[in-house]
Amino acid sequence: MNRLASAELAIEEGRNAAPEARPPILRTEGLRKEYYSGRQPIVPLDGIDFSAEPGELIAIVGPSGSGKSTFLHLLAALDTPTTGEVYFAENSLVSLAESELAEYRNRSVGFVWQRHHLLPDFTAAENVAIPLLVRGKPASEALRAAERWLGEVGLASRAGQRAGELSGGEQQRVAIARALVNEPVLLLADEPTGDLDERNAAGVFDLIEKLHRSHRLTTILATHNLLLARRADRVLALQHGKLEPGADALAEDAVAVREAAGAGPTAAGGLG
Ligand SMILES: Nc1ncnc2c1ncn2[C@@H]1O[C@H](COP(=O)(O)OP(=O)(O)OP(=O)(O)O)[C@@H](O)[C@H]1O
Ligand SMILES: [Mg+2]
Repeated sequence: MNRLASAELAIEEGRNAAPEARPPILRTEGLRKEYYSGRQPIVPLDGIDFSAEPGELIAIVGPSGSGKSTFLHLLAALDTPTTGEVYFAENSLVSLAESELAEYRNRSVGFVWQRHHLLPDFTAAENVAIPLLVRGKPASEALRAAERWLGEVGLASRAGQRAGELSGGEQQRVAIARALVNEPVLLLADEPTGDLDERNAAGVFDLIEKLHRSHRLTTILATHNLLLARRADRVLALQHGKLEPGADALAEDAVAVREAAGAGPTAAGGLG
C-alpha cells in the first residue's frame, strides 16, 4: 500500500478514535509564502500553523489580496511554500514523490477554483469526467460517473449541454461535481460563491454543506461572504499574513472602513 492509501486509512480509522487521539487530516507548520515581483517581497502567508480535523467544515475569510487563494493552493500542493510544511494525515507533502503528489492532487483533494475553469465547448458531463479520464478510467465509465455526480448537484437534465451555455450558478455546480467525481477526502473551494448573486450563492453553499455531510468530507472554503462563512463549523480570518480564529475583527474592520468612507454602517454581509 502506498503512503497516500495508508494516510487515508489512518484518517478513516481516526474517525472512531477519541478526539485527542484523532490525527488531523491537514496540518501546516510555519507556512510562509513570499512573492517577488517588485522591489519589496509580498508575504501573504507569514508563518501559519493550522490544523483541520476530519469532518470539519472551515471557512477562511479575509480581504482581497490577503492570501486566501495562496493558502488553498499550498494545501492542495498546487504550489510550494517558501518555508514551512503541509502535512496530509501527518505525511509531509515535501516528502512525497512526484507521482504521489500527482495522486494527492487528483484523488485526495477536490479543488473548486475561484474562476470555475470549465471547458466551455465540452458538455457538462465531459467536464465532470475529466479527472477520471486523467486517472485512466475508460470513457464510458467516466461519463456514467459524471452523470451520477451531475444528479447529485441537481443538474442531471443538463449533462449533455455545453458548459459555456450554463448559468454562473450551474457552472459552479458542475465545477463542484468535477471536484468530487474522484471521491476525495478533502474539498478545497476558493470563493465558490464569489461571482454569484445572493440567492445562487446561498444555493451553492447549501449544496456544499449537503455534499460535505453526505460524503463525510473535510471542507475548507475561502469566501468574502461573512454570512455564509458563519454557517461553517469554524471561521478563520486571514489578515497581515496570519490566520486567526473568528471573523469578528474583520467584520468590525469592514464596518469601520465603510463608516470612514461615509457610507455608514451596513449589515456586515461581505468584505469584497
Ligand atoms: N504569482 C504571484 N506573483 C506575485 N504575487 C502574487 C502571486 N500570486 C499572488 N500574489 C500576491 O499575493 C497576495 C495574495 O494573493 P491571493 O490571490 O492569495 O489573495 P486572495 O486573498 O485570494 O484575494 P482575492 O480575495 O482577491 O481572491 C496578493 O498581494 C497577490 O497580488
Ligand atoms: Mg483569491
